[in-house]
Amino acid sequence: MQPSPRHYVKINSMKVLVTGGAGFIGSHVNKLLLDQGHSVTVIDDLSKGYQASVDPRANFQRVSLENQEELKKILPGHDGVIHMASFIEVGESVKNPVEFTQNNIVGTVKLLEAMKNTGVKKIIFSSSACVYGVPKKLPITEEDPLGEQKNPYGITKITMEEFCKLYHTLHQFDVTILRYFNPYGPGELHFPETHAIPNFVKSALAKTPIPLFWKGEQVRDFIYIDDLAEAHVLALPLTGLHIYNVGTQTGVKVIDVVKQIFEIVGYEVPIDDKGERKGDVPTLVASSQKIKKDLGWKVKVSLDEGLQKTIDFFKIQNP
Ligand SMILES: NC(=O)c1ccc[n+]([C@@H]2O[C@H](COP(=O)([O-])OP(=O)(O)OC[C@H]3O[C@@H](n4cnc5c(N)ncnc54)[C@H](O)[C@@H]3O)[C@@H](O)[C@H]2O)c1
Repeated sequence: MQPSPRHYVKINSMKVLVTGGAGFIGSHVNKLLLDQGHSVTVIDDLSKGYQASVDPRANFQRVSLENQEELKKILPGHDGVIHMASFIEVGESVKNPVEFTQNNIVGTVKLLEAMKNTGVKKIIFSSSACVYGVPKKLPITEEDPLGEQKNPYGITKITMEEFCKLYHTLHQFDVTILRYFNPYGPGELHFPETHAIPNFVKSALAKTPIPLFWKGEQVRDFIYIDDLAEAHVLALPLTGLHIYNVGTQTGVKVIDVVKQIFEIVGYEVPIDDKGERKGDVPTLVASSQKIKKDLGWKVKVSLDEGLQKTIDFFKIQNP
């Protein structure tokens, strides 16, 4: 199931530093690491995340990637870094390319340098399916070429990947790049929120029209947050350089997600037809063969169950 022992050194309890651990995905990754007996340091500047989302068992440090000196003080003693800190909103990246370049790319290089200087040479990096651009075939495998990017966010993700790879080549870092497809689940509290599922659920619960682009004909591979979090923990023992898609290998039309939400809440709300949105890729579906074969990862939460849990979360948020 797992790569050859040369590439997989399992340590029962690791000391892990999670950047961006006060964000949506990071907060779930922290919890899973702690539940499995690892110890966790979170660094986050709270530019987007919430300290309340950080598991109280974690050691939280309000620090920016910008602050290399502070990173160098915090890093020693850690076995590895899960690097999730990033600006993520595509529209904002078009408006503020300099800020995105500074925060995501320069921030990543500052982190990598601080890691090199403190001898912490293992990184798991949060990348995205967006790096493939418009795929030429489906499902998308890790060997498929990277595609043309239509916004600065995508360029920052490709460049951050490249820097992680470079530190593998130049400085023998162990690097695992995880390319997420469409994560969703409880705790998704981005502002602004541009992702489909939280917006659909919030509109359905508020009984307001659901904003829908392309009449919901796009196909996406929605990955539940707990399944995504598990990929990080499974990747921790890896040595060498690895790239994995994290998706379910099941494409679902966005309109079918809306219908499933209506079924769960037991009523329908009108659709707010937003027309076409420039730059949207029609279909994104992962091949998940590689992560299944190498790491024994599998999908545990169905879309129906995941949507139910997401709806339960937002009901408590806005009773
Ligand atoms: N959410 C998705 O759909 C998705 C899809 C693909 C990839 N990703 C990637 O996953 C990662 C996490 O995404 P998320 O949805 O949890 O985002 P998020 O915005 O909820 O979390 C990101 C966190 O990083 C922190 N941060 C940003 N810049 C920082 C800096 N310079 N120093 C310290 N902290 C900083 C923010 O305060 C925030 O808490 C990102 O790298 C993102 O690009 C997300």
